[in-house]
Amino acid sequence: MKKYIAALDQGTTSSRCIIFNHDGEIVSLSQAEHQQIFPKPGWVEHNPIEILNSSIKVMKEAIAKKNIDIHEIAALGITNQRETCLLWNKTTGQPYGNAIVWQDMRTDVICNQLIKTHGEEFFRKKTGLPISPYFSATKVKWLLENDPQIASDAAKGMVLFGTIDTWLIWNLTGGIKGGIHITDITNASRTLLYNIFSQMWDEDLLRIFGIPIQMMPEVRPSSQFYGDMIDVFDKPIAISAALGDQQAALFGQTAFNSGQAKNTYGTGCFLLLNTGEKPVISKHGLLTTIGYQIAAEPVIYCLEGSIAITGALIQWLRDNMKIIQTASEIESLAASVEDNGGVYFVPAFSGLFAPYWRNDARGIVAGLTRYATSGHLARAALEATAFQTKDVLDAMYADSQVKLHSLAVDGGMVQNELLMQFQADILNIPIIRPKITETTALGAAYAAGLAMDFWKNTFELSEKWKKDVQWNPKMDETTRQKYYGEWKKAIDHSLHWVS
Ligand SMILES: Nc1ncnc2c1ncn2[C@@H]1O[C@H](COP(=O)(O)OP(=O)(O)OP(=O)(O)O)[C@@H](O)[C@H]1O
Ligand SMILES: [Mg+2]
Repeated sequence: MKKYIAALDQGTTSSRCIIFNHDGEIVSLSQAEHQQIFPKPGWVEHNPIEILNSSIKVMKEAIAKKNIDIHEIAALGITNQRETCLLWNKTTGQPYGNAIVWQDMRTDVICNQLIKTHGEEFFRKKTGLPISPYFSATKVKWLLENDPQIASDAAKGMVLFGTIDTWLIWNLTGGIKGGIHITDITNASRTLLYNIFSQMWDEDLLRIFGIPIQMMPEVRPSSQFYGDMIDVFDKPIAISAALGDQQAALFGQTAFNSGQAKNTYGTGCFLLLNTGEKPVISKHGLLTTIGYQIAAEPVIYCLEGSIAITGALIQWLRDNMKIIQTASEIESLAASVEDNGGVYFVPAFSGLFAPYWRNDARGIVAGLTRYATSGHLARAALEATAFQTKDVLDAMYADSQVKLHSLAVDGGMVQNELLMQFQADILNIPIIRPKITETTALGAAYAAGLAMDFWKNTFELSEKWKKDVQWNPKMDETTRQKYYGEWKKAIDHSLHWVS
């Protein structure tokens, strides 16, 4: 009897396996962090073998913890940190060095050159994306150009490309012994190599980036039976979904209708608005991206506002500045002062993403006086998340004319009540947190369950969504405008830093 769906959420900072029951409730959870590798300023890498091993470890732990029989698991859905990519040898299974993480800025020079030779619009018209080190294509180009071994193996057709979903699925379905080389359409849409309009790898782009098409995985719908996970447990488990983590969160929030949106507060913040079967091209610094595709149904598009650093700023205050010991302590420290004391923190550690797209920006703290304390800094760090979300929401309105009457939120930071209240105040709309905030894993589970008829359809899934808390705006308009005006000034000061 099938009772459960397993979801593997391979994120930027950790991997989680969550087992859900038919009601969409969490039955078991296991989580493991992996190493963040910073070889130079602006570079961020992960070890692909560590990622694979920790993914397997959390799956084993989550299942063992509750003595679940493999027979009871209907399927596994995979969701992953997006854009992060690697190359590996298809006969040895060995990766060529580390995966280059989405936050890595080493390819900004390549991006600047491509803007000069082709112009930004050229890339946006095919992919819906601005040209930025954020996406996979320039990272692959960098790998091909900086390791002669890769270039020569690639010429012999020995090299495979993958985002993290592809790497995991290839290994879990057999690796060098017949592993399947696929990606889902949401992950493909983040590579800067996939034409989201014609829905295929774009030959012009592959040529411009010097990437042989034989390297590229086959692109599949997000919810479909792909193959069996073998050699991990004593019995196989069907793998039947893959989605980029932010798209999975949209799915987990059951935002299946055009005009529905969600904002996920994790390492960064990612606001996605479902625009239905119609791709909306942004004129205000957002991305057009693929939201999901269920089996042979039409592709659903989204407008996305991507913010690189939100929760990562709290981690930085914990690990680098050591002003807190745990992420949750930021709330009491911020609450120890009445307001930000005039202090603003622009966390442009990877430049600024949406809606600015400025690789030349770097982090700044503005408005310091001798009055300022660690409490003000903590508050400024939390408020930066809310201000960045407003920047994105304003752009979304300008692009889509969709005015949100409330915002559904999820992710690790939404436990922070002070932040959620400030977010409601700055946006001047209610903020709504659902009962399950692990929406990334939930979305992967839902997509996997749909493919295996564990759940009937998206209507059945939507009925499971339940509100937990709602924060209503309390701030007066004058105060709101003063805060946001000062934030915009701070943004101006963060620009033009890297020449
Ligand atoms: N109470 C809190 N207040 C503010 N920030 C918090 C709090 N608890 C966790 N965080 C931040 O939330 C982030 C973790 O959230 P979450 O687990 O959703 O992240 P994530 O982006 O999914 O991780 P991954 O990158 O591994 O996918 C961390 O960056 C952490 O600093
Ligand atoms: Mg995550």
